[in-house]
Amino acid sequence: MSILDELEHWSPEAKAKLYQRLKDERAGERKIFYCTNPGRTCDGQPHEGVPYNHARADQWPPIHTPAWLTFALVGGRGSGKTRTGAEYTRQMTKRTPRLALIGATNADVRDTMITGISGLESVYSNYGEKVEYQPSKRRVVFPNGCIGGVFSGEEPDRLRGPQHGFAWVDEPAHYPLIDDVWSNLLFGLRVGDDPKIAVTTTPLPKEWLKTLLNDQKTVISRVSTRANLSNLSPTFAEAILSQYEGTRLGRQEIDGELLEDVEGALWNGDLLQYATLGPEDMDRIVIAIDPAGTANRRSDETGIIAVGKRGTGRSAAAYVLRDRSGKYSPSGWATAADDLYRELRADAIVVEKNYGGDMVKSTLENSGTSARILVKTAMRSKQLRAEPVVSLYEQHRVWHIKDAGLGKLESEMLGWVPGEGDSPNRVDALVWGIEELIDTTPPGRIITPKSSGPTPSTPRRPNGLPRNRPGRNLRRAA
Ligand SMILES: Nc1ncnc2c1ncn2[C@@H]1O[C@H](COP(=O)(O)OP(=O)(O)OP(=O)(O)O)[C@@H](O)[C@H]1O
Ligand SMILES: [Mg+2]
Ligand SMILES: [Zn+2]
Repeated sequence: MSILDELEHWSPEAKAKLYQRLKDERAGERKIFYCTNPGRTCDGQPHEGVPYNHARADQWPPIHTPAWLTFALVGGRGSGKTRTGAEYTRQMTKRTPRLALIGATNADVRDTMITGISGLESVYSNYGEKVEYQPSKRRVVFPNGCIGGVFSGEEPDRLRGPQHGFAWVDEPAHYPLIDDVWSNLLFGLRVGDDPKIAVTTTPLPKEWLKTLLNDQKTVISRVSTRANLSNLSPTFAEAILSQYEGTRLGRQEIDGELLEDVEGALWNGDLLQYATLGPEDMDRIVIAIDPAGTANRRSDETGIIAVGKRGTGRSAAAYVLRDRSGKYSPSGWATAADDLYRELRADAIVVEKNYGGDMVKSTLENSGTSARILVKTAMRSKQLRAEPVVSLYEQHRVWHIKDAGLGKLESEMLGWVPGEGDSPNRVDALVWGIEELIDTTPPGRIITPKSSGPTPSTPRRPNGLPRNRPGRNLRRAA
């Protein structure tokens, strides 16, 4: 006899009693996030009444500031931003019937904000509650009937029209169209008399973010990855810390600091954009190497970067897949490059001929690799070769693979100022890889004996000014 059959014979009173017991038992497993410590001074560690990890003071929305509009939780990777956004959203469902959930893409809203480990479903389950995600209607229905509309940072126009009393915006510093997203959101933020926004993001030196953080109606909470170590898996924490610790970018990615762009650097934070693709999605992959010790380099690291390509001609885009750079012996880097070549089923290994002459090629061959080796000769200075690659970034034709451990590479890109020392090995390898895959010659350039030498330097946009239209640099250089 099954339990259900058994229940058939129970009296209504007995059933009610059993139901109450189950309910009480479940209540014991409910985990509140915000404790009742007076003054919100809690460090989030277990204490009396709340015997498990819970909200730290920096994860509480503001109370003491009057008339705030935006709660901006700006923090390092894994510092607890998304969890805070989801928990605060749950609080706000009690205050407004309509709210907006905005992520970089529809997939991000779904995979991070709704079904992710720190997302709404997981948060609600801590309270023994359920949210109903209705993808076809692009919305979430909360237990009390509040409706959360799903919006992607890629479609700002969809935010035109709907009205909301609250919005949670996750990682907006990464949306290329954030200005439009933000103004449309503000325009529709008119349900109730005290609408609020929660912004949870890693900082990027973007004008939009700087303006937001300087706004009098914004309350900022800055969170470091280190503050959340006790809630992170050791592998994740180790991956983040080892990648960024001690680098300039670490101040952004670990400490959540807003870094200014480095004066005179070729790349700036705005140029980095991320994709979640794998090697299997690529039409072609190369491993580019810039060996240490081939010249009087300031670094003794060998740059080993894997870059893939999708598409053809002017619509081709490059994807930076891996960075295996490091301190290696010559046979060490050859093996590391060959391993990566085989791991990604790459098409070729690209090396530079200059300085090392054939040494680099023979080191690779001696390591026993079966890879096709393309030996390149640098005709132009490092800076002149890097500039067209930067233009490709400006045209959104280069993507970095999300969570692929590219922190040190990015740090070098954003920190290298031409003329102030050699370019870093990672950057050189990156430039070799992208050059090999994507045609970087400016369109319509007429090759005359005069201009067949070094490409003229493309005019640089002074930092902080509005970005040139894509391709403008290239046309001007033509
Ligand atoms: N106060 C807290 N108590 C318990 N667990 C927490 C707390 N804050 C965050 N966490 C947990 O820490 C982990 C990382 O948090 P979360 O995903 O919110 O970080 P994040 O800053 O959004 O990370 P990312 O940079 O990857 O977007 C999650 O498992 C989350 O549930
Ligand atoms: Mg997050
Ligand atoms: Zn507490």
